[in-house]
Amino acid sequence: MERSTLPPSIEMNGVSKYYGDFQALKNLSFKLEPGERCALLGPNGAGKTTTLKILVGLLSPSSGEAKIGDFSPSSEDSRRMMGYLPDDASPYRTFSVRENMEYIGALRGIDDVSDKVDRLLDSLQLREYEKSKVGRLSRGNVQKLAIALAIIHDPSVLLLDEPLNYLDIPTQETVIEYLKNLNSTQLVSTHIMEVATRLTDKVIMISRGTFVWSGTLEELKRLGKEGEPIERIVARMLTDVL
Ligand SMILES: Nc1ncnc2c1ncn2[C@@H]1O[C@H](COP(=O)(O)OP(=O)(O)OP(=O)(O)O)[C@@H](O)[C@H]1O
Ligand SMILES: [Mg+2]
Repeated sequence: MERSTLPPSIEMNGVSKYYGDFQALKNLSFKLEPGERCALLGPNGAGKTTTLKILVGLLSPSSGEAKIGDFSPSSEDSRRMMGYLPDDASPYRTFSVRENMEYIGALRGIDDVSDKVDRLLDSLQLREYEKSKVGRLSRGNVQKLAIALAIIHDPSVLLLDEPLNYLDIPTQETVIEYLKNLNSTQLVSTHIMEVATRLTDKVIMISRGTFVWSGTLEELKRLGKEGEPIERIVARMLTDVL
């Protein structure tokens, strides 16, 4: 579906989040302009999943504000616009791949569900598993289905938590190509710099719940010494936070 209007921005404004006494996010602020695709990069425990859950409206910030365009993440408007891949995505195990897609598509109010499912089955190379029950799929194919379920309604905002997990390299390339061609604002979490470079050309770096840096990959490369691998530059920046 072609969208003539711009997709919404994604914004965190001074967001802090406590789990009990533990502060998982510390005054975190960043903004993705409409249509921008950004990697949310940080080591294990940095707060990536927490950030995405706040942006999707599953968790409330302890203080500060998250916004999807002009809307609060928990509003009906932003829920309609949003597609979310959780880190532990679990489609219905007793449904087939096609049944999962048709069910979620129908819940999302898609008119031509069957057509849409056919197109997604082909573009994500899930056709041969269309009738397989999810409980019998390999982990990678469950992940591919979960990605299909997150994008089935052509969301204008996509929040993806480690989308390439479990996928083999050719499948990763298929998914990356598909994501690149969507007209949406996308925030994609990963702890692997190499994954960030393949998915997007901008990164927001966080560590221990704290904002570290954001900018384009070109800007990031310029921060390093001549010929220094980008992974080493990132490692240095993240170590400086400890
Ligand atoms: N429900 C919870 N209760 C208490 N602490 C939590 C909870 N969820 C997350 N945390 C803590 O908050 C911090 C951030 O966790 P989060 O899952 O957001 O990190 P992450 O960047 O997604 O890590 P990973 O790369 O391992 O997925 C961690 O220290 C984690 O232990
Ligand atoms: Mg996580």
